[in-house]
Amino acid sequence: MHIAMIGAGYVGLVSGACFAEFGIDVSVVDKDESKIAALKSGRIPIFEPGLDELVKSNVEDGRLHFTTDTAEAVNKADAVFIAVGTPSRRGDGHADLSYVFAAAREICQALTGPTVLVTKSTVPVGTGRKVAALAKELRPDLDIAVASNPEFLREGSAIGDFMRPDRVVIGTESDRARAVLKRLYRPLYLIETPIVFTGLETAELIKYAANAFLATKITFINEIADLCEKVGADVHDVAKGIGLDGRIGRKFLHAGPGFGGSCFPKDTLALVRTAQDVGSPLRIVETVIAVNDARKAAMSERVIAACDGSVAGKTIAVLGLTFKPETDDMRDSPALAIVPRLVEAGATIRAYDPEGMEQARPLLPPEVQYCRDAYDAASGADALVVITEWNAFRAIPPARLAQAMRGRVVVDLRNIFDPAAMREAGFRYSSIGRP
Ligand code: UDX
Repeated sequence: MHIAMIGAGYVGLVSGACFAEFGIDVSVVDKDESKIAALKSGRIPIFEPGLDELVKSNVEDGRLHFTTDTAEAVNKADAVFIAVGTPSRRGDGHADLSYVFAAAREICQALTGPTVLVTKSTVPVGTGRKVAALAKELRPDLDIAVASNPEFLREGSAIGDFMRPDRVVIGTESDRARAVLKRLYRPLYLIETPIVFTGLETAELIKYAANAFLATKITFINEIADLCEKVGADVHDVAKGIGLDGRIGRKFLHAGPGFGGSCFPKDTLALVRTAQDVGSPLRIVETVIAVNDARKAAMSERVIAACDGSVAGKTIAVLGLTFKPETDDMRDSPALAIVPRLVEAGATIRAYDPEGMEQARPLLPPEVQYCRDAYDAASGADALVVITEWNAFRAIPPARLAQAMRGRVVVDLRNIFDPAAMREAGFRYSSIGRP
């Protein structure tokens, strides 16, 4: 089988490489010539564990190709996936669908025979039907079946998520599209992955509802963590105690500085806008967005309070900048709310992130100093803040930290350190939702 993946961004690259690994012939198409040239020469523009090896081996085996030529790619494809970006539209928070429709238009115009057109990008409810209408309008001569096949990949574990998903969602009204997608996902049938067949709108809504639910779960435990601090309870034990109830589940109950990333902030906002537009507001999700935004902003105040009410003239080590570990992605990272505020309040920032410093640099104030490693960042610091829970930070012995630092304040926004060990090393240690 042959497929075309339109868009060599995060979703397109990971999905394209994984489909190739399934044995399918994949052409990944992007307009950006320099990106395609880089990919052809083996350079992967994003950091995702395992992706470079997966791309390399599938390119070598002749199953994965990169091109800027849409027409060539789509005309040999049994299915064409649209995996272009859907950023938040400036001003109103609606998903910006201009790339999706531009891609759909270009594909339809280039086609010389029937195909299955699949949206993989996260698109608001109703988009698939609009794509179908566009296809019909542009190519009444061709049978173009439309399907929605949302992805549920997490950055940092995207390949595992693709190869061993909890489920695959396929929304379509076409028997032909269903048959083609079933064949594409055959290796997952063999490992008994549930495949959920639905209509177009339902598939589109499943994606948004899943992300909104997970964002709600995180926000819920974050608020419980704040309450824990007031009443002397431990949020880890609360999360465990409720998570063992199978109806609740243990995952996504880690309290922290608030969710970020390329999906949750953008998708919750787009869902809320869709719901408002059709007169069926989602008040819980609206509140989740507001609470999460306020939380990210409040984290810098937490640091300032831990530094006895002022960070002016103080040096603060910041460990981790990305929105989560195992990625170089800075999109909506809590660091973007915390670091500028600390700089504004007069702190000198010494930051270290294993992968994200290059991405962070243009987004953070120019005064921020970027360090070689965690100890370099901690060197001479009055206080230290953990923003991202990279594994390398978990292994830091408190005594070595104490040696490197001048002061004794540690604010751990990810609860990676053991409170008793930190206190033993002489730190004034505070974390999230623990006494
Ligand atoms: C998410 C969804 O998990 C994925 O299914 C979807 O396709 C895209 O969006 P991703 O953004 O890569 O994936 O990261 P995820 O691991 O879900 O984390 C999102 C944010 O929530 C991060 O900022 C993370 O730190 C935060 N988070 C997550 C918590 O604060 N606590 C948790 O328990 C889990």
